[in-house]
Amino acid sequence: MKPEKLWNLLQEMTLEEKIHQMLQLPNACYQQKNNLTGALEDGTLTREMIEQAGSILSVYGAKEVRRIQEEYLKHQPHGIPLLFMLDVINGYQTVYPIPLAQGAMFDPALSKELAQMAAKEAAVSGVQVTFSPMVDLVRDARWGRVMESTGEDPYLNGLYAAAMVEGYQGDSLSDPYSVAACVKHFAGYGAPDAGRDYNTVELSDRTFEEYYLPAYRAGVDAGAAMVMTSFNTVNGIPASGNRKLMRDVLRGEMGFDGVLISDWAAIAEMIPHGYCADRKEAAQRALDAGVDIDMTTGIYSEQLADLVRAGVVQESLIDEAVLRILTLKNELGLFEDPYKSLNEEAERQIHLCPEHRALARKAAEESFVLLKNDGVLPLSKETSVAYIGPYVNNREMLGSWSFIASTDTVQTFEEAAKAWYGEGAAVRYCQGAPVLETGTPISGLGSQTLPQVTEADCDRWLREAVEAAKTADTVVLLLGEHRFQSGEAASRADITLPDVQMRLFEAVCAANDNVAAVIFSGRPLDLRRVSQKAKAVLEVWMPGTEAASAILRTITGQCCPQGKLPMSFPYAVGQVPVHYNEFRTGRPLTPEVEADRFRSRYLDIPNEPLYPFGYGLSYTSFSYQPVTIDREEAQIAALKAGDALHVSVTVTNTGKVTGTETVQLYLCDVAASVVRPVKELKGFQKVTLAPGESQTVTFSVGFKELSFTMADGERGVEPGTFIAYAGGDSRTPNAVSFVCR
Ligand code: NOJ
Repeated sequence: MKPEKLWNLLQEMTLEEKIHQMLQLPNACYQQKNNLTGALEDGTLTREMIEQAGSILSVYGAKEVRRIQEEYLKHQPHGIPLLFMLDVINGYQTVYPIPLAQGAMFDPALSKELAQMAAKEAAVSGVQVTFSPMVDLVRDARWGRVMESTGEDPYLNGLYAAAMVEGYQGDSLSDPYSVAACVKHFAGYGAPDAGRDYNTVELSDRTFEEYYLPAYRAGVDAGAAMVMTSFNTVNGIPASGNRKLMRDVLRGEMGFDGVLISDWAAIAEMIPHGYCADRKEAAQRALDAGVDIDMTTGIYSEQLADLVRAGVVQESLIDEAVLRILTLKNELGLFEDPYKSLNEEAERQIHLCPEHRALARKAAEESFVLLKNDGVLPLSKETSVAYIGPYVNNREMLGSWSFIASTDTVQTFEEAAKAWYGEGAAVRYCQGAPVLETGTPISGLGSQTLPQVTEADCDRWLREAVEAAKTADTVVLLLGEHRFQSGEAASRADITLPDVQMRLFEAVCAANDNVAAVIFSGRPLDLRRVSQKAKAVLEVWMPGTEAASAILRTITGQCCPQGKLPMSFPYAVGQVPVHYNEFRTGRPLTPEVEADRFRSRYLDIPNEPLYPFGYGLSYTSFSYQPVTIDREEAQIAALKAGDALHVSVTVTNTGKVTGTETVQLYLCDVAASVVRPVKELKGFQKVTLAPGESQTVTFSVGFKELSFTMADGERGVEPGTFIAYAGGDSRTPNAVSFVCR
């Protein structure tokens, strides 16, 4: 439809019809097979609301979407199609690594391909909008949703935000395999106090602007069709009723003109937040802030018409919201074809097709981070090995969001290994321990019951594991969090491995000196004990459908680990939030003053995380030449006009196998009108080198890299000294300095 016609359409709609377009219903309302109004019995929604709601979430599958759309259009007086939205977070049927693991790939281009793949699989099943990417910056590993983020760095997060939006949306929303992206959760959701989900967010304007906002901005700049508000308050005002945040920052400064949706029930939650007295006020405040769609509460449909009639809210605010919603439906091509892309045959052809599985495996392999290796890995096919642990024979490796894909499509590690080793190999497989002790409370999306395991089972598993460990040359322990120990509403105060697994770990380490630990998790864990005792530690996150083959290929050296941490792994939970790009203090702890008590330090643990941002080993080794710069001075005026310095570093593969290294550039502004971080990531490049091969990597350093929001509020470069670091992780000492005048 020509965009101008949408305005005419709007004029034809009654006030109620318009308001219902702003309502999003959950799937439960549509679950009865033969009519649309299955949820009427619960009394909160009227028939009219259900028949006219503008969008629905969590309904998927070509057949089901067609059924509901057909039924819906029978009642829709203007032929406006229903919009279907879903959380497609790390894949639809073919599941790839969780976003935090994608951060570890340091490869936004690959994430773009993954998003494209997910969009294609989801589109043929009737999904038109995905609630992804989540671009919230994260620093606190206690927060369960760090798994949905790409980590602690604003620059890296911004690259991923843009790549994912581009991948989902393709060249045009009207393309058959495109889905609209929804950047979330605006804003600051990744900084809840004490890492407790849904908790208060208090951030200074500067920290908010420089660290938290850039990734949302990158997603908006990439053309995201939608943005989702966050549950939290931002400096005292809930995001979903925060006019300044939504109208001034998001729509004004960032120029976002797409659809703004609340998070699930977030408009109603402004009442318990203590910001709104009742549902009427909540509706008013959310509309005033410019929230176009109310996810699931029915508050707009219930309240807005009366508020308009009472002259409390202006109908024009409703019109602008509805126009945005209609525009999105139009851009998706739904007015021309409300059944666009729905295709049961394509579902059979595309879902989990070999190319998609291959891409998921490639991503998994790129995302694994080798944290430690005292020569135990990789294993040769001839090594006698015991594979022990609750992830040896387990299909639950998809992460907490993958409630659509069936674990039947996932091979267990044991199945993959048996197929590879063949008959007669000196290999044993043992359960060792359950993931969690029976009775541990655990719930999440989709049904989940922990298998009933008795104490006797546990004892027997432990005995068998210790026996196997004694006779094997090497033990590979596959340990980790339960998939529902991270994700939404999965904050943890203790971020170690479950006790029952640590008992197994200790017993196996006592029986065998050559232990490699493969760790599944949705967050940085406290792995201090594990990395003290194991000879090798490989972090595999939640790898997705191809977990088993990717892990097997990595530990047997068929591919070489290359992931780098997108988030610091703390030494102890007491350090969090811990991140590499912290501000400096007046009493820094440096090696020269190690003995001085009166420093910014802990008495009982180091300041440094166990494994820093950007860190990750390989099966080969890399050496770096001293970093160089093409000149030692630059003029600020020239930088502003496009001039740049060039920082170079030569990296050599000094080991025995081909490997891929992510060469990273960090900058530090030594003194400025406001304090600047210790260092900030400003560029990276992946290089694949054969043994003995070298490559020189050059980074441009110009206005974009050197500027920041100065004390006067302007963005600029200040005169003074800068340090450029280039190396294999955020701790690299390889540095050169230069001056800007
Ligand atoms: C709540 C979550 O916070 C959000 O990320 C998600 O997209 C919605 N629920 C819809 O499922």
